[in-house]
Amino acid sequence: MTRLVVVSNRVSIPEAGKPQAGGLAVAITGALREHGGLWFGWDGRVKQVPSNRPSVVTRDAIDYATLSLSKEDYDDYYLGFANEVLWPVFHFNLGAMDFRLDYVKAYSRVNARFAEGLTPLLQGDELIWVHDYHLLPLGKELRERDVRQPLGFFLHIPFPSFDLLRALPCHRELLEDLLYYDLIGFQTENDRHAFHEALVETFDATIDGDHVTCRGHRLRTGVYPVGIDVDEAIAEAEQAITQDPACQFQADLGKRDLIIGADRLDYSKGLVQRFNAIETLLTHFKHRRQRTIFMQIASPSRSAIPEYDELRRQLEGLAGHINGTYADIDWLPVHYLNQTYSHADLMGLFRAARVGLVTPLRDGMNLVCKEFVAAQDPDDPGVLVLSELAGAARELSGALLVNPYDVHDIASAIERSLNMPRDERRQRHRQMLDVLRQNSLLAWRQRFIDDLAHPPA
Ligand code: G6P
Repeated sequence: MTRLVVVSNRVSIPEAGKPQAGGLAVAITGALREHGGLWFGWDGRVKQVPSNRPSVVTRDAIDYATLSLSKEDYDDYYLGFANEVLWPVFHFNLGAMDFRLDYVKAYSRVNARFAEGLTPLLQGDELIWVHDYHLLPLGKELRERDVRQPLGFFLHIPFPSFDLLRALPCHRELLEDLLYYDLIGFQTENDRHAFHEALVETFDATIDGDHVTCRGHRLRTGVYPVGIDVDEAIAEAEQAITQDPACQFQADLGKRDLIIGADRLDYSKGLVQRFNAIETLLTHFKHRRQRTIFMQIASPSRSAIPEYDELRRQLEGLAGHINGTYADIDWLPVHYLNQTYSHADLMGLFRAARVGLVTPLRDGMNLVCKEFVAAQDPDDPGVLVLSELAGAARELSGALLVNPYDVHDIASAIERSLNMPRDERRQRHRQMLDVLRQNSLLAWRQRFIDDLAHPPA
C-alpha cells in the first residue's frame, strides 16, 4: 500500500497513557497506521530561534515530523493571516478581517518553510494529503521543489461565495495556489460550487463535472463530508453516563431539562445569538423557568486575537445578565463554562441533555452536532436544534433546522423539542444515526485517499 503523508498546521502526537485529542486526529492516525506514513506540521510551540530541521519522533510505526514557529510567524502567520484574515473571510465575516501585508508575507514564508522541511523526508512514491486553510499554498511550494507525488487538499472550513472572496486583496494568488493540487475536497456541494464559481469568475476556468481546467492545470474536486466514529462515540456516551461528572450532574438536574451547547469560543459559533435565544425562551415561554437549564461549554481558543477576547467578555456579560434577571434561590438558568472538557465528559453531558443546541453562523461541517446525536439513548433520545448554515445541516434532516440569527426561531425550536413526542424523537434520531453511519469518519478518509490514489484514466 502506498505510503501516506499528512500535512496540517497542528499535529497531534499521541502521548503514552493519554487519549488522543479529537476524532479527526484519531482518523488521520488510523489512515497513517494503515498505509504507514508521516504526519508533518507545527508542534504548537513558539521559540526564539526555531530550527529549520523538523524534529521527528516515531510512535506505533508512524513518523511525526514537526517544526516550531518563531514569535513573528506565530503572530503573523497563525494568528494573523490564518485566523484574522482567512478564518473570518471564509466564515462570511468580512467585518472581522484584519488584512495586513506582513501577514501575507508570513503566510508565504511559513508555507515555504514547511515545504522546505518536508521535501527531504519524502521518498518519492507516497500520497500527500494537506489539510485546511493554513496551508493553501503548500502544494505549489512542494511542486516548486520538484515534488511529483499526487497532492490532495481538504478544506475543513466553508469556501466563501465569490463576492466575499473578492474582498480579500490577495484572493487571485490564493486561488492560483490551489491549482497545484491534484484533488481538492470540500465538506459540501455548496463549498465546491463556490470554489468553481471563483475559478470561473477569476480565471475563466473550464469546469466539467469533477474536472477543472485552469491556467494550464488540470485538477479534480470532490465532496467529502467529515463524519465521526459512531460506534466509538456511542460506547463512550454509554460509559460516561455511569461516571462523574455526567452522572452527578444528571442527579443534580432532577426533573429539569438540560439544553446543551459545546463549542470552541469562536464568533463563528453564534454564541451571542444563542444566549439571546435562551433569554427569549425564558421571556416568551414562561413555563420553562425553573424547569430548564442551559449549559454552554465554550473552550478557550485563539485568545490573543481581540475578537475572541471581546467575545469571551460579551458572553460573561450575557450569562450574568440572564442569571441576574431570572435566577432563583434554587435555580440558575445559565451554566456558562469557559473551559475545555474531555471528550468522554462531553459525551456524558450530551447523553443527559434533552436538547443539543448547535447554532453556528457558518460552519464547514460541525462535528459536535454529530456527536450529540450519537450520544443519545435511541429509546428516548434528545432533539438536535441545528443551524441551517452548518455543513451538517445538509445531512441531518432529522434535526430541527433554524436560522442562527433568528433568536425567536431558535427559542421556538427549543420549545418544540421539549414538547416533542417520543415516537417523533426516535424517528428523527434513527434517520440521523443512519446518515452518521453512512458518512462515517472512516468512509470520509477512505474515499478521499482512494480518489487521490486512483485518478480517472
Ligand atoms: C478548526 C479548524 C482546524 C483547527 C481547529 C482549532 O476546526 O478547521 O484546522 O485546528 O479549528 O483551531 P486552532 O486555531 O486551535 O488550531
